[in-house]
Amino acid sequence: MRLQHLRGRRTTAVAALLTMALAVPIAAQATEDSGAHDSAAAKAAAEIPRQYRVTGPDSVADRDRLARLGVSLDEVAKKSVVITADSAQLKKVRALGWRTKSLGGPPARDSSGKKVRPGVADFPSDDSGYHTYDEALKAIDEAVAAHPDILSKQVIGKSHEGRDLLAVKISDNVGEDEDEPEVLFTHHQHAREHLTVEMALYLIDEFGGKYGSDEAIKKAVDGREIWIVPDLNPDGGEYDITGGEYQMWRKNRQPNEGSEEIGTDQNRNWDFKWGCCGGSSEDPGAEDYRGAAPESAPEVKVVSDFVRSRVVGGKQQITAAIDFHTYGELVMWPWGWTQDEVTDGMTQDDIDTFKAIGKDMAASNDYTPQQDSALYTTDGAIDDYLWGDQKIFAYTYEMYPGDSGSDGFYPPDEVIEKETARNRESVLKLLDNADCMYKAIGKEDQYCK
Ligand code: ARG
Ligand code: ZN
Repeated sequence: MRLQHLRGRRTTAVAALLTMALAVPIAAQATEDSGAHDSAAAKAAAEIPRQYRVTGPDSVADRDRLARLGVSLDEVAKKSVVITADSAQLKKVRALGWRTKSLGGPPARDSSGKKVRPGVADFPSDDSGYHTYDEALKAIDEAVAAHPDILSKQVIGKSHEGRDLLAVKISDNVGEDEDEPEVLFTHHQHAREHLTVEMALYLIDEFGGKYGSDEAIKKAVDGREIWIVPDLNPDGGEYDITGGEYQMWRKNRQPNEGSEEIGTDQNRNWDFKWGCCGGSSEDPGAEDYRGAAPESAPEVKVVSDFVRSRVVGGKQQITAAIDFHTYGELVMWPWGWTQDEVTDGMTQDDIDTFKAIGKDMAASNDYTPQQDSALYTTDGAIDDYLWGDQKIFAYTYEMYPGDSGSDGFYPPDEVIEKETARNRESVLKLLDNADCMYKAIGKEDQYCK
């Protein structure tokens, strides 16, 4: 049975407002309300950055140099990249001598003429197939209520603005901690990557709704304990749709001491080789600001604590993970902090296993498989943490689209169904391998007996 409610469109703006008033925590409400009375100064500070194609950068070294100017690298081609930059950052890029071409601002998507009230967080009317934070919560609650035998929800902590951070568990005998391999799916570290929340809802829908009718789903639910953290950055996600206009926001919404600039890049804030290697920025205004300390972003701390709580009897129960992002259509594996494959903490067998399963998953969704650092250097990213600190085989996916020709971070809601279902087989492959990842290189006896 298919759970239509997860895909259901919003009801009315009035209902959404009412839900917000009832469900949004005090701190968050104060922030959202202030949007309606922005001072001119605050408006100027909140310049919406834009995407530019930069022609010239053709190596990791070039791309790292670009990233250190504080821009985000959204798309990597052989001899060019697409970045997000504000006007000050753009000047610095041009000063390095690279040619830039504006790709315009984010799409408006309100052709119906139905406007979202200033300060209210909602998708523009044409994109109402996407779930706001409250809509996602509601969809999850309904799914859990419909399948309480295999779905459960727990609040694992709060975001900076006080929103609940959730972990949804999917397994047979879901109320018990059985001795089964555990697999973690995390979503939406970056605010504007809304398709990743839909990916989480798809998985909950698919595993909850097809347990009785689909053999592969039943096998996974019976033999594994699946954890889905559907939204690591609810504050950023809501901010990104303020007033029904896309804000091109990436980071969380945590203020920075001694700076006007808001937000930490969660995917540079994890506690493994944090800030080690020129793969993040110490400037609070940068798109890849690493934060004041490892796990200084409350959302990262909450999920890190959750992961560490899965060490039972001295053994990390989670064996494999995917962290979902957009965009680029990529399947990636550690390391991000170095170009090297084999290092302290990564043996030849480890990297061979990462590659074998990564390539197999990429064959099923038609993404490109590669090491994280083939894009550009990153330090403090989640997959490096999960592998480096917890020995979890952790992948990073960049979902649809492959390039900005298809609206980059804001693909229309019509693609949600296809582009989430596209990852079904790859997710099942990871779940299947999760009892012994080294099976993939024929070394089950050596590592898993
Ligand atoms: N685009 C993502 C980011 O900037 C992922 C980059 C790949 N590196 C990684 N370590 N996952 O965070
Ligand atoms: Zn991302």
